[in-house]
Amino acid sequence: GRPLLTALESLIWDVPDYPSPGILFKDITPLLADHDTFTATVQALADAGRDGSGATVVDKVLGMEARGFILAAPVALALGAGFVPVRKAGKLPRETHAVSYALEYGEATLEIHTDAVAPGERVLLVDDVLATGGTIDATRQLVEACGGTVAGVAVLMELSALPGRAAVGALPLTALMTV
Ligand code: PRP
Ligand code: MG
Repeated sequence: GRPLLTALESLIWDVPDYPSPGILFKDITPLLADHDTFTATVQALADAGRDGSGATVVDKVLGMEARGFILAAPVALALGAGFVPVRKAGKLPRETHAVSYALEYGEATLEIHTDAVAPGERVLLVDDVLATGGTIDATRQLVEACGGTVAGVAVLMELSALPGRAAVGALPLTALMTV
């Protein structure tokens, strides 16, 4: 609602030219340090994993390293669902699926344990920012490689200047704010 949006706007700070010239970094650390706003943010993101009666409709919540972890783990607890970490290359100890993708700046590879999502399970993807959509698209491929289904995508903010929404395609997208 309006009060949450107002709080988000004041607690997400713009940092110009970070991590490289021309990039306007959105710093969410002031938001995370504010208990009431962090709590309201987690609750609003968790609503993306509920149906109209308030029942949880996902089995797992996936968070993408690193900032996605901060939001996705408490969302999983709020929903009574399991949490699955999607990690950058080389960090998971057992058999993985891997997908390489382009970031707004640079390139990366994401991995998931092959047994982290069971065939037929429904998952919610949670991250801080939707920019080019590369991270979300790679994660969807990882879920599908496991035999799971992405039920929805929930992000704190969508960058409207970048084509992230197109990458999300027909999946239900919840963005708490658009900048
Ligand atoms: C950032 C952000 C999103 C992603 C969005 O992650 O946290 O995960 O970029 O960009 P995209 O839509 O173009 O993929 P990044 O890997 O840069 O940093 P992090 O490890 O701090 O999450
Ligand atoms: Mg990230």
